[in-house]
Amino acid sequence: MIFKFQFGKPFPTEAVVAKDQIQDAPGQPVPFVDVKEGESITYQMQPDDLVYGLGQNVRGINKRGWIYSSNCSDNPNHQEDTRSLYAAHNFLMIDGAKKFAMFLDYPGIVTFDIGYTRSDELKITLSDWNLDLYIWEGESMTELVKAFRHMIGRSYIAPKWAFGYGQSRWGYQTAEDVRRVVQKHKENDLPLDSVYMDIDYMERYKDFTINEERFPNFEAFNEEMKAQQIHLVPIIDAGVKKEEGYPVYEEGVEKGYFCKKEDGSNFVAAVWPGHSMFTDFLNPEARKWFGDHYAFLLDKGVEGFWNDMNEPSIFYTEDRIRDVIDEISKLKGKNLDLTELWKMLGLVNGMANNVEDYKTFFHETEVGRLSHEKVHNLFGYNMTRAAGEAFERLCPEKRILMFSRSSYIGMHRYGGIWQGDNKSWWSHLLMNIKMCPSLNMCGILYTGADLGGFGSNATEDLLLRWLQFGVFTPLMRNHSAIGTREQEIYQFQDIGAFRNILKFRYRLLPYLYSEYMKAVLKEELYFSPLAFMYPEDAFASQVEDQLFVGESLMVAPVYEQNARGRYVYLPEEMRMFRLKRDGSLESEVLDAGHHYVKAELEEMVFFLRKGHALVLAEAANRVADVDFGHLQALTFGDEAVEYEYYHDDGYTKDYENPKNWSRLEISGDGEISC
Ligand code: NOJ
Repeated sequence: MIFKFQFGKPFPTEAVVAKDQIQDAPGQPVPFVDVKEGESITYQMQPDDLVYGLGQNVRGINKRGWIYSSNCSDNPNHQEDTRSLYAAHNFLMIDGAKKFAMFLDYPGIVTFDIGYTRSDELKITLSDWNLDLYIWEGESMTELVKAFRHMIGRSYIAPKWAFGYGQSRWGYQTAEDVRRVVQKHKENDLPLDSVYMDIDYMERYKDFTINEERFPNFEAFNEEMKAQQIHLVPIIDAGVKKEEGYPVYEEGVEKGYFCKKEDGSNFVAAVWPGHSMFTDFLNPEARKWFGDHYAFLLDKGVEGFWNDMNEPSIFYTEDRIRDVIDEISKLKGKNLDLTELWKMLGLVNGMANNVEDYKTFFHETEVGRLSHEKVHNLFGYNMTRAAGEAFERLCPEKRILMFSRSSYIGMHRYGGIWQGDNKSWWSHLLMNIKMCPSLNMCGILYTGADLGGFGSNATEDLLLRWLQFGVFTPLMRNHSAIGTREQEIYQFQDIGAFRNILKFRYRLLPYLYSEYMKAVLKEELYFSPLAFMYPEDAFASQVEDQLFVGESLMVAPVYEQNARGRYVYLPEEMRMFRLKRDGSLESEVLDAGHHYVKAELEEMVFFLRKGHALVLAEAANRVADVDFGHLQALTFGDEAVEYEYYHDDGYTKDYENPKNWSRLEISGDGEISC
């Protein structure tokens, strides 16, 4: 049973949708934690307590030892000491003598001090006390997650083609650039299912427009791509350009769908298009209106989108830049001492995403007019909800790819996320690995990072190692920023090594997709920490750089430069596979315990559990060409095993059809029968 405690007047976020296991507990004492209303929620941690959750955030799978916050922020320079990324996932679990979970359904800023100020204390503070607190206990972390996932509803399911490889870059300026990407992949026999279109495709960064000069006759272009089984996936930004004559702007103003300031005038802030308006996504009518605009591209044959800048990101507001310029002009001709110099730099650097600006605009919600600051963390969620709800109205039969940058609990029903603007750093590869299970705990299953890194320059070995992990992430997309080193696979020397890795992704799709669908439909994890799979194994909880992918497979990615292998911990005897350069698989059985495992740069190792199987198809260059009906299996041990296989058409939404499931009988030598 999940206990619900209400404080003040919580905003109806609609994060929670299934109420059957929830019991309102007004007036009762909150179990496990110490609540000082208006002040804090604290928990006295035992030395061995582990803390899990927080979805998209920095640091480890075990969150203990840092101070985090939920304050959706655009931060392309995030590092280990960052406190908040693009999302707000207020879900925590304590694993110790007491095992319990908490969800704080609260859309303002929350701070989670998990042993930062006092190493034995977990202390949660909020910017005000209007929240729903859900708290429940369980026998295991897996059970606690399942209860949470049940209450927040079924995770988003992407079309099957979106499990193929995608190539993206901010800077594909013309249709020719896109054609070249496709052609280069083809010439080099590299699998590819999608090419992402960043803001360059728009007419001066205006949502729901296409630059006719650079992308003439877009519909025909999309058809041309589709004929090669390539999906074009355009970006949609949160900010709508302020420009007379631009219908989206004019309509939004006329209908009053943009966020306003206290005096009733429209709030204007700058993002990529310059001065822009923010749709009031908390107003259901405005949400519908914005969502309906996706039809502009859906009607041209587009089947996927990514929603960006929806924290919302603000480069500056009209008001702030005026004040900053005024202040700085006072310094003209002055001999600036350190304090004044810092003040000036502070003013300039403080223009973007300034918390004070978030206080200056308002939303018309079903519970009245609210300052953005109070509901800040719901903006990206509701932009993606706008899209998801529109897809249901506009093309109810078809799955549309959707993933967002910003999110809150509940958004996982409408789309996935990518993990924001990372860098071409080895530490960000490791962060990507650690973030995946935490996101899954919060229902976000369709996810992946910008492979190779978004900012800064990627090296060949980094991209190769990152792709070796990306093979297992549902979203497998190489994306990089304009101005950085070009990062498409064919820009590098050893294309054969990359090809081998990509082809293996396509071979693994029957397993990956099956495990993805099981995780969605059974409310389980796709990526599990070792600690969740082996709760009795004290060492497993220490391992943060190996993960389970579904029920059979453990991955131990190499994430250090120049490493030609790594230490791996096996909680039980496993069969290790090594993908060789020629695409063949070499295997050996390793005992439980610690091992140093060799993995040359182009080699990928993974591990199979005893009594389990991995189902594979023949390699292909498009998801549509993968033969999901003719499988091979990798097994471990002489005994026959069963594998529960999920397979559907990948495009429609007949998920519950029992015909999608089959029980494969797999003999010890890998023979499959149904
Ligand atoms: C920020 C996004 O995070 C990034 O992926 C994108 O390339 C740029 N905006 C430009 O649209």
